[in-house]
Amino acid sequence: MLELKSTSQLTDDQLLAHVERALTHAIANRSLAAKLKEATHYALLGGGKRVRPLLCLHCCAAASANMEHAMPAAVAIEMIHAFSLVHDDLPALDNDDMRRGRATTHVAFGEPLAILAGDALFSIAMEQALSCKIGAAHIAHELANATTEMISGQVLDTLGGFPRDFNPAQQLELIHRQKTGALIRAACRMGAFAAAANPDTLDRLSRWGETMGLMFQVVDDILDETQSSEHLGKSAGKDIAQGKITYPKIHGIAWSRDYVKELLAQSEQLLKPLSDGAQPLRAMAQALATRTK
Ligand code: IPE
Ligand code: IPE
Ligand code: MG
Ligand code: MG
Ligand code: MG
Repeated sequence: MLELKSTSQLTDDQLLAHVERALTHAIANRSLAAKLKEATHYALLGGGKRVRPLLCLHCCAAASANMEHAMPAAVAIEMIHAFSLVHDDLPALDNDDMRRGRATTHVAFGEPLAILAGDALFSIAMEQALSCKIGAAHIAHELANATTEMISGQVLDTLGGFPRDFNPAQQLELIHRQKTGALIRAACRMGAFAAAANPDTLDRLSRWGETMGLMFQVVDDILDETQSSEHLGKSAGKDIAQGKITYPKIHGIAWSRDYVKELLAQSEQLLKPLSDGAQPLRAMAQALATRTK
């Protein structure tokens, strides 16, 4: 087993390679119908920034534990994310034909297999979460709960149905906190559970993850309006075309960019009491605020 206690001992590329290997093995070692294995492999591997697994591993290390304890949780959260993308791209939802610079899963394998590959990634993710050596029950519960929130957010994003007294800005924040924020916050909390973090550290990492989650989707909205499809590896300009409510649409691009800076500053405050072990989280926050894809 690779000793992963201090992330500073590994370069980002080494850590990413470790995550890729764990993701690959999780599918390769699971007995599945051949077509399903091919489609889940396609949906999970071959691209993706791996933001959620990295957050999970770094939060585990920030809570002073060996990151390796959080690897099944990191794999699990990325599987749920991949499932959410496969279903998000389906004709019934965003109807996208490009993801991570190549054909979406339903374009490559057909809709029936894409739907079923999403379903399988969900259930295999739960198996992974339950295989954690420390905090398995908390981790699996966290993942299931966040997945339900993500699905709830996707319903609001796709079909609406908000509480009656919500104005557009409140509707927008609710969608983003649920459809994207929930999994990002869960990634952080799962890392903390794998480290058996004390309540104060868990609370701090939860609030930090919540701030990151909202910031992540505000940036995603900005990039959808300001970058090309070639650069993003997914179709740009879709939000306006599909009449989605987004931060740039409700508040404008300049305000949205300022809001990203404000959320970044809030996240820095939250990490202040944590030790040097939280340094990679500070670097990640900065990278996620300034990313261009
Ligand atoms: C895209 O997520 C979907 C959102 C929640 C905004 P990512 O930007 O993390 O996508 P990949 O995994 O890197 O492709
Ligand atoms: C995706 O939001 C959220 C989930 C997949 C849960 P988007 O629809 O904005 O994501 P992209 O832009 O297609 O990656
Ligand atoms: Mg969508
Ligand atoms: Mg989409
Ligand atoms: Mg988007």
